Amino acid sequence: MDHTYITVALGKGRLAKQSMELFGKVGIHCEEMEDKNTRKLIFTNEEQKMRFFLAKSPDVPTYVEYGAADIGIVGEDTILEEARNIYEVLDLGFGKCRMCVCGPAEAKELLLHQQQIRVASKYPRIAKDYFYNVKHQTPEIIKLNGSIELAPIVGLSDVIVDIVETGSTLKENGLCVLEEIVPLSARVVVNQVSMKMQNERITWLIRALNEALNEE
Ligand code: PRP
Repeated sequence: MDHTYITVALGKGRLAKQSMELFGKVGIHCEEMEDKNTRKLIFTNEEQKMRFFLAKSPDVPTYVEYGAADIGIVGEDTILEEARNIYEVLDLGFGKCRMCVCGPAEAKELLLHQQQIRVASKYPRIAKDYFYNVKHQTPEIIKLNGSIELAPIVGLSDVIVDIVETGSTLKENGLCVLEEIVPLSARVVVNQVSMKMQNERITWLIRALNEALNEE
């Protein structure tokens, strides 16, 4: 592992933009990253010895576990689903949403009994954990990769386990929240070895980010 730089993995998308704004507030900038047309994957601030890269969200905990990134910023949904050996050190408070069981209102009935149902989700581990350990129900879990709301509409599943933010995707598709599993937000995660080897810099950074959040 290269200890010259602190390497930060960011989940692509909205969280990355908000994360960089927060880094900006603690005086860490990466101009290269602001160019929307760039196809570059990794960005370096030589003076501050910081590196940032964008990755698909589910890969962020993987990069951090293996030490390819010292720090990661990713949603709690992904952290729970990937279940990697990493430290979760800070709740950034943005990217707030909820993990829910959703479906047509009539499906509520199916959740009351121990019957065999089908659950579609991009989060099979979270879905399985919730149904098996909280509800003591053993549904068939079908892994999908996106547009999960389609599943109950076209008859692939009875319900879905998915993220609800504004609720408009559900509403526009005639579905509703049936049960809430867990509230979610963006988190900072840290590699376990980096936490020891780069303790001073990482602890400073986490404290600074936390203070910047509290000033908002
Ligand atoms: C997420 C999630 C829901 C939607 C919820 O999907 O899976 O479909 O956002 O947001 P809302 O409550 O504000 O409507 P995303 O847009 O990330 O794409 P995906 O369906 O391909 O996963």
